[in-house]
Amino acid sequence: MKKKNAMISPSMMCADPFHLPEVLAAFEAGGIEWLHIDVMDGHYVPNFTLGPDFCRAVAKETTIPMDIHLMVESPDRYLDLFCPFPGARVSFHPETVRQPVRVIERIRELGASPGISVDPSLPLETLAHLLPLVDQVMIMTVNPGYAGQKLIPFCLEKLRECRRRLDAIGSGADVEVDGNVSWENIPGMVEAGANVLVAGTSSLFKNGRVSSQDIDRFRRVIQ
Ligand code: DX5
Ligand code: ZN
Repeated sequence: MKKKNAMISPSMMCADPFHLPEVLAAFEAGGIEWLHIDVMDGHYVPNFTLGPDFCRAVAKETTIPMDIHLMVESPDRYLDLFCPFPGARVSFHPETVRQPVRVIERIRELGASPGISVDPSLPLETLAHLLPLVDQVMIMTVNPGYAGQKLIPFCLEKLRECRRRLDAIGSGADVEVDGNVSWENIPGMVEAGANVLVAGTSSLFKNGRVSSQDIDRFRRVIQ
């Protein structure tokens, strides 16, 4: 299958809330494709982050679509809160629900684009039956819950396996990589098949702010 153009999805939990207008302006000027929104509930992961109010505020200020990453137990309870944003992609961790197929169908019914997120401990073969149903598979290369962690090396091979499995079923779904997407790690991640890269503290964000030079640098490294 034709290699997909790589896209950047900056992780908004890494932005300093007191500088959000300038961060968003830099992303618009830099042609950023997605805004990665980490939603944590203090149960599935031991942390709390962004929620629907933040998404509403972002949707009022920009037309860049949101790449919403639900790190919550029972995400089926919250789909109405996250799916209505224009162009939203909504990913959940399949082990958090009893009927992942129903959740994928529901996300689509609500007008959003469904994705699944794969914890480092989860083998892709257990999710094979879900791959034809989704628009994106997010491979986590750190344990979900925090920014600023180190890459778990065996996850790189999962990127390759994921792209291979999607190609084998004729799926054009995106392969997203989330966690320690650093200047050093980006080339190997793209080479392994990632085409949506979550940019956090390892690359674009310095003290919660971003520069146009770094956005340009990111673009060059993934091309
Ligand atoms: C968790 C987050 C983090 C993080 C990414 O789902 O998406 O992985 O913000 O940025 P790094 O790992 O570069 O701080
Ligand atoms: Zn994330």
